[in-house]
Amino acid sequence: MRDTYQSGLIAESSKDALFLTLNQSHVEGARELVRASLASMPALLDDFRNRYPDADLHLTVGVGSGYWDQFNPEERPALLRAFPALEQGGRVAPSTPVDLLFIVRADQHDAVFELGAAISRSLDDAAELVEEIHGFRYRDMRDLTGFVDGTENPEGDDRLDVALVGDEDPEFAGGSYLHLQRYEHDLGAWERLSVKQQEDAYGRTKDENIEYPGDKKSPHAHTKRTSLKREDGSSMEILRHSMPYGDSQRKGLMFVSTCRTPEHFELMLKSMVEGDETGHADRILDFTRAVTGSAFFVPTSHWLTQLS
Ligand code: HEM
Repeated sequence: MRDTYQSGLIAESSKDALFLTLNQSHVEGARELVRASLASMPALLDDFRNRYPDADLHLTVGVGSGYWDQFNPEERPALLRAFPALEQGGRVAPSTPVDLLFIVRADQHDAVFELGAAISRSLDDAAELVEEIHGFRYRDMRDLTGFVDGTENPEGDDRLDVALVGDEDPEFAGGSYLHLQRYEHDLGAWERLSVKQQEDAYGRTKDENIEYPGDKKSPHAHTKRTSLKREDGSSMEILRHSMPYGDSQRKGLMFVSTCRTPEHFELMLKSMVEGDETGHADRILDFTRAVTGSAFFVPTSHWLTQLS
């Protein structure tokens, strides 16, 4: 079943995306309607791929950690747990649980728009919209702070090894633990920094996107705070699928982490917000603020189709 993983978990970045979060509604039979809708998602995606053969369309369907037991009381992914709310020194990572997540992404806005509308129709009265955010590729895959985002992501087969649950949880092999945070940037304050100060905040150069040597990185640098190692020296990795979003009111990043365990994201976030043993926290958090935070499990397409 592992090979029926939802393709949006692994696919390379897209030009356009829609992030939909929803809660199950209170109408009678809502749970069954949600289950039937989710069971129909793999076929719906196939249908839209046939309609938009050149769009490279992907869909990621996640079930919220707090909703899982109501949604599917029979069995639960072994490590599924709530989003870890953190707060220290003015830096926050709130937990804002939601029941359902749909990430639609493609290289064509019309394909994303139409599949998004079809998903909303399919859920109809069964679920209520919490948030709808349109993400887009900015220049050569940069965050709105102007730095390339995603460079150190795993590549090739490593993407599957990092993102997908394996034999450790056979019932849910091929699934993934997904964390979603919406960040709002203070771009005015960020742009008042010199380019060198911005580069120091990430530990990478801006235009050329070159990593600083380890001994030149500040302990506050984002890439320092998120490069975590186990005691045996091996790296803890996640596969990120973040995308910029924005309008005239607010601008920021939809941060998406996928992994075979929730632990790596949790430890990285703690390292950013709370810092190292001497309190060196992540410099970028002085310029961006998480306003949502939710944990999901993304089962395989095969598992979804069996829900009906
Ligand atoms: C690296 C941006 C939040 C984990 C990076 C890089 C940028 C970036 C520009 C360097 C290039 C790259 O390798 O991708 C941002 C922004 C964030 C954000 C703008 C929020 C607004 C997070 C969070 C986590 C995270 C919440 C995990 C909890 C990582 C990791 C790397 C990275 C693991 C690679 C580090 C390395 O191996 O060098 N991020 N990031 N990021 N980020 Fe973030």
